[in-house]
Amino acid sequence: MSQRGARITGWASALPDNVVTNHDLEKTLDTTHEWIVERTGIHSRHIGGTTASLSVESGGKAIARAGLTPADIDIVVLATTTPDRQVPATASTVQQELGIKGGAFDINAACSGFVYGLTVGNGLVATGAQHVLVIGTDTLRTITDWDDRSTAVLFADGSGSMVLSATDGPSNILGTSLTSDGSLERLLFAERGGNLQMVGKEVFRNAVGYMVGTSRDALHKAGVTIDDISLVVPHQANIRIIEAACRRLGVEMDNVAIVLDHTGNTSSASVPLAFVEAEAAGRVAPGDLILMTGFGAGMTAASAVIRWDP
Ligand code: UT7
Repeated sequence: MSQRGARITGWASALPDNVVTNHDLEKTLDTTHEWIVERTGIHSRHIGGTTASLSVESGGKAIARAGLTPADIDIVVLATTTPDRQVPATASTVQQELGIKGGAFDINAACSGFVYGLTVGNGLVATGAQHVLVIGTDTLRTITDWDDRSTAVLFADGSGSMVLSATDGPSNILGTSLTSDGSLERLLFAERGGNLQMVGKEVFRNAVGYMVGTSRDALHKAGVTIDDISLVVPHQANIRIIEAACRRLGVEMDNVAIVLDHTGNTSSASVPLAFVEAEAAGRVAPGDLILMTGFGAGMTAASAVIRWDP
């Protein structure tokens, strides 16, 4: 039986122009640049745009990068926890603005959303789609209490996209692992119309375990070990979470993609944003294996092992 796998053929990101530094936040919050850098690794973040506008920018660039036109895209999968409206899905706005004729829907798996989206896209390609646009976008500023120093210093806006295209043979998404532990919902949530509430220390503690657990599961399913991985692309929430997870996985920080110093935590966008910068810096070569791993509210976690074969 012939196989129908997926390859990543396009990738791009988008950040709003407006940069907010820690020093800017010092003016309105009881915080310091030094505290934020020491506890999180964040120096500045981008704030602005809508989930649709950022998605259109990164999605459009990813389609062009793949050498395709919007007419070639069969389905838009938009991972977001901050849709512009309750109904319809923001993916439909993106579809319309990009001039795509295919299907469109949102998924919400919080900060694990992009890796969930890639997994869904992989399945859509396996069952007949030719080209799937997977987007991760969040405008977390819209659900952040800017007077709450425990969250306002962390969250920001951004977008990243990848095009998955059908290929003869096995998929380059070699193994995935998706989990959720709904019993931990109270650790990070926003009621409808409300702002994010977080028990930061508990999120931290659980995040490390779930990133490591889903990473090991995805590696096992891919039939590879951590030593085969050239680049780890983690969710960008806190440099200390990433360091702790990588220590447990046995990964050197030189092999980890980091952008949170200048992006903050952009939720669904953080993994593709980090990947796009690493690729632009020449940190991946054809044939390399990449581990993408994220965690977030829900409490969700998701990891994927991908062979880079653009
Ligand atoms: O995508 C997933 C989203 N969320 C996360 O990944 C968050 C995971 N958690 C974290 O990243 C960390 O727990 C935080 C960065 C949120 C907090 O760091 P921490 O080292 O766990 O600090 P803490 O909560 O234990 O707070 C230490 C102190 C407290 O003061 P006291 O009680 O020791 O007097 C806080 O009130 O730091 C205080 N504090 C701040 N001080 C200055 C909390 N936020 C700030 C702030 N500036 N922005």
